[in-house]
Amino acid sequence: MTWTAWSPLRKPWAAAMVRYGVQEQHYGPVASALFMTLKQELGDDFTPEVKCAWTETYLLLAGVMKDAGAKANKAA
Ligand code: HEM
Repeated sequence: MTWTAWSPLRKPWAAAMVRYGVQEQHYGPVASALFMTLKQELGDDFTPEVKCAWTETYLLLAGVMKDAGAKANKAA
């Protein structure tokens, strides 16, 4: 799926994160937990390529979510 296809989801997702009290500093530990889980569950299938794809995806999503969250916090 391309970014364009699911970018309309970013507002409701970011709004939900703000509602749950998620702050910028939470994205790092969540990334660590996500990557630990992926490594544990995928084992040998967690190849450097897979790791790289997940890293790019998480960084993209987290960036968008942080931005939208910061805007929502400013507007509140
Ligand atoms: C790439 C970053 C993230 C994405 C795309 C994401 C996406 C989502 C989505 C789609 C939901 C469901 C929203 C709903 O209730 O309609 C959710 C729930 C939630 N997220 Fe995130 N999230 C991200 C990062 C984080 C971070 C950093 C935290 C901080 C600890 C967090 C905490 C939560 C919590 C507490 C819920 C509610 C879980 C529940 O209903 O039991 N998320 N997230």
